[in-house]
Order: sequence, then structure tokens, then C-alpha cells
Amino acid sequence: MSVKQTLRLRAMLLGFGAVTRAQAWRGDPLARIISAPPGTDPYPVYEDARALGDLSRSKLGLYVTASHRVGDAILRDPRFGVNTRAALMDMKVLLRDSRGRRPIHPVDDSFIAIDPPLHTRLRRTVAPWFTPRALRDLTPVVEKVVTEFLDELDGRADWELIHDFAARIPIRIICEMFGIASVDYDRFTRWGAVLGPTLDGVRSVRELRNVRETLVDVEAFFVDLVERRRRAPGDDLVSNVIRAHDGAPDLAREDLLATIELLMLAGYETTLNLIGNAGMVLLTNQQARERIIAEPDIAPNLVEEVLRWDSSVQYTVRAATEPVTVEGVDIPEGTMVVVLLAGANRDPQVFPDPARLDLDRPNSRDHLSFSSGIHYCVGAGLARLEAATAMRLLFQRFPHLRISGPVVRLPSRNIRGAIRVPVTPGN
Ligand code: HEM
Repeated sequence: MSVKQTLRLRAMLLGFGAVTRAQAWRGDPLARIISAPPGTDPYPVYEDARALGDLSRSKLGLYVTASHRVGDAILRDPRFGVNTRAALMDMKVLLRDSRGRRPIHPVDDSFIAIDPPLHTRLRRTVAPWFTPRALRDLTPVVEKVVTEFLDELDGRADWELIHDFAARIPIRIICEMFGIASVDYDRFTRWGAVLGPTLDGVRSVRELRNVRETLVDVEAFFVDLVERRRRAPGDDLVSNVIRAHDGAPDLAREDLLATIELLMLAGYETTLNLIGNAGMVLLTNQQARERIIAEPDIAPNLVEEVLRWDSSVQYTVRAATEPVTVEGVDIPEGTMVVVLLAGANRDPQVFPDPARLDLDRPNSRDHLSFSSGIHYCVGAGLARLEAATAMRLLFQRFPHLRISGPVVRLPSRNIRGAIRVPVTPGN
């Protein structure tokens, strides 16, 4: 980054921080969400946002909804697109070096951030790997992997739920799907730790440099993997995504890399925190723990209710692609709407007594944690499978597992979870 770019970014960050803090002080819910210390309880602010109406305008110029009905409708509305970054701080611009080159960004360059028709084509290249049938075939693999990790933990007096267990599952499973035999967990964990929090936006020049360096490493790793699979194709997910791209020569090389990087990273921080959040529920809620031990088949309900009650992804953003009127509110073209997914999940209109964790809630699955509409999470079924298997087998193996030290929360606002949950098997 040139000196001029660095100075401009510093000025922008300072300006944005000052405006946000001032509006937060005046009570603006969106400004309060953005400027809250990462990791603090966000649910009271979502309630305040809902109290302002189903769709309200923030002083920051964006609209906000914590209503399930309105959030769901916006996510399904083709007049809203995902091309939102340009209006905030455009990572694609920020990541450029002094010669204008930049690494691929797994979120901003991939189909999660692309509108149809290209979105539809790129999503189709991966969708067959996440069908119910594909997941049935994967079930024994997930069970084997989780059992293997539990075998390694068996006999240890103390361990840590996130690093030693939750994080390893999504990394290992996606590596199995990619055909990567020897898994460097520390490398993927490092990448996730740098890139996950940037869903909140970058907060400093140093953080941006760190993100840039990490993305260069990520790209080098996947360029090499793609080259190896081209030389010796197999039946793995990467080889098949390459085949799909080769059959459509107008798709760019960058689209292929971004798609593969997205699969690796979109499924990592999200799923590890779902497993962590579900684990923390069972470690702190005696009734829920007794249920899962007595009725292990309740694991999918538990996972669904944890997704609703404390989602690992808290919000997403859309921008109006044309002037739109929603709930009588005129939204100008290009204006962004923040959909508070975790706020919608506690909308009392849809979920009675929403702050209560209820494993028998009949409609937990109506949560918006995997979004809605055309960008509905491709990996939702895989995440559900991994988390339910993890909880079922963890508490069968360690029914007396308990927290043995201070829990450290993740320093992020959009991704919610913990980075450290020390545990001991107890007796
Ligand atoms: C608890 C775990 C997960 C959560 C909470 C989650 C959440 C989400 C959300 C909210 C979106 C849509 C964002 C938006 O609408 O703006 C999304 C999209 C996506 N997710 Fe997930 N995800 C999880 C796990 C996974 C896994 C395991 C994978 C794959 C290995 C995955 C791959 C994707 C992909 C490829 C998209 C883009 C879909 C599209 O744009 O059409 N996710 N996810």
C-alpha cells in the first residue's frame, strides 16, 4: 500500500469511527452494534432496533431490520442484491498494492457477493456436493473423524473445546472433500482467525496488511492445489469444480479460485462457532445436557435451536438495485439494508418466549441463521451434520464434561462464539 493510500485509509477509519461512536452515543441501534466492544451481548440492541419498527433508518444512512418477516422478505427479494461493499469500504480497492495488484478475496470475489446470472452459474458448480444424498454418503466420514478426535482427547485431564475439538471438525471434513490427505490444522486456524473478524470490516492499517498477507498465502495454497488437481484429477470436490469451470470457458480463473476459497473459509469459522456455541449450551445448561445424554437423537433439534438462539453469523447486508418500497418505506437505489439474522431469530412474532432455549420448540428450523433466498447457505446441511454428530458423540463419550477455566469470547461482532473454552472430563 502506498503512503497516500495508507493515510487515506487512516483518515477514513478515524472519520467512520468518530461518526459511529457519536451516533451510538445518541442511541442509534446500528451504530451501537458496530461500535460495541466485540464479543458483548448483542441481543438487547437487537430488541431496541425492533422497538423502532420492522424497518428503521439508521443515522448512518442504512436501513435495519430485526423483524423475521421483513428480513426474510428482503433476502428473497430480487430487487435487493449483494453488491454492497462498494458503498462501505471496498476491500477490493483497499487490498490493492502500489502496483494495483491484489489477492483474491474468498468472500468479496466469490458468488456469495455476486448477483445473478453469474451467481446462479457459479453456485451450480458446487451445489451437487451438498445435496441430501451427498450428505448421507458423508455421514460415516463425519462420525469417523469426530470419533478419532475424541479418541485422541480420551485420557487427557484438561483440554480446550474450540482448538482441540470444534475447529478441527470443519477443517478436516472440507479437507476430506477436497482430497487433502495431510491436514495442517494450524495453518487453516491462522487463516480463519485473521479473515473471520474482517466480516466486521477492517479497523486498522495493520489489520489490513495482515489480511493482505494472509490472502496472498491462501491464494498461493489454492493455486498450487488447483494445479495439482489439473495434473492428476480425482473424484474430489476440487477436481469436480475444475471440471465444471473447464466446461464453461467464459468463467474466469479468479472465479474458480474464489469459489474454492469460499468453500474452505465460509464453512470454517461459522461451523466451528456453531459447535462451540452448542457445546457451551450443553456445558452450562444441565437440563439440555441431561436430554442429549438420555436421548442422543435429539442432537439435530439442539443444533437447530442453538442456531436460532445464538447464531454464529449475526447479520448480513443487501443493497437495493433499484428504488424499492418496503413496509411503506422508500429505499433509494444503492442503499443498504442490514438484516439482523440473529435479531430475526428472536422475533416474538415467530418464536414465542424467544430468549428461552427450548429443545422442543416446533419451529426452531425457521431461523434465518443460514440466510434465505438465493444465497441460502450451500453448506447448511453439512454444518448441521457436523454439529449434531459432534454434540451427540462428545456427550456420549464425556457425560460429565465441564468448563474448567475462563471462557474467552471471539473478538468479532458478526461471527459470534468463543475462542477458548477450557474443559475437563470430570467424573
Ligand atoms: C453454522 C455454520 C454456517 C453458517 C451459520 C453459515 C451461514 C451462511 C450465511 C448466513 C450465508 C448467506 C450470507 C448472505 O445471505 O449474505 C451463507 C452462504 C454460504 N455458505 Fe454458509 N454457513 C455455515 C456453514 C457453511 C459450510 C459448512 C459451508 C461449506 C462448506 C458453507 C458455504 C457457504 C456458501 C458457499 C455460501 C454462499 C451461498 C450463495 O451465495 O449462494 N457454509 N452461509
